[in-house]
Amino acid sequence: MVSESPADWHIRLMRAEDIIPIAVIEGEVFGDPWAKDVFESELANPSAVYLCAVGRGGEIWGYIGSWIVAGELHITNIAVRKSEQHRGVGKHLLQLLENRARTEGCSVAYLEVRRGNLSAQKFYQKRGYTVVHARPNYYVNPTEDALVLKKILSGVEDGHHPGG
Ligand SMILES: CC(C)(COP(=O)(O)OP(=O)(O)OC[C@H]1O[C@@H](n2cnc3c(N)ncnc32)[C@H](O)[C@@H]1OP(=O)(O)O)[C@@H](O)C(=O)NCCC(=O)NCCS
Repeated sequence: MVSESPADWHIRLMRAEDIIPIAVIEGEVFGDPWAKDVFESELANPSAVYLCAVGRGGEIWGYIGSWIVAGELHITNIAVRKSEQHRGVGKHLLQLLENRARTEGCSVAYLEVRRGNLSAQKFYQKRGYTVVHARPNYYVNPTEDALVLKKILSGVEDGHHPGG
């Protein structure tokens, strides 16, 4: 899978060699980053779909992870390295993943976000996600509630065409 993206970067499926740079991004943006072995087991999971945004020189700018199970898209994580945030990378990753999920028959997407992560909540709300309920003390380091967000996936959105 390769997406149509702005000229200086593109999106493709995550590979094993991406795990080390992704772990660096995790450490940069999260207080409770995932360990490398989590990504290794996810890449071996047939239900998992992980996409990377890659710069022209091959450097990893961000990623999005998910499981596609029983007609539902479950987004496990998304992160964009600080130097590349606010230029549309997260939006493109999410839109391409949703379109892939639609083509696999998904009609709904779910994700969890920390109650205090207001910037990510704004990002998701702009993309059509709404809060459906809270999970008390879901996160650790620090302990915090999760908000569960949901989006109904209707037609494929324009602009990103999985191929290759
Ligand atoms: C959340 C995150 C993935 C967004 O990625 P990004 O590449 O910076 O986002 P984009 O540039 O694609 O922005 C998409 C839209 O969200 C909005 N947005 C992004 N960050 C925002 C912020 N901090 N506050 C308000 N709006 C924001 C943008 O304005 C843009 O709106 P538009 O479509 O109207 O132009 C990124 O900021 C990140 O990695 N954050 C840290 C990790 C994290 O919190 N992940 C979520 C875990 S649940």
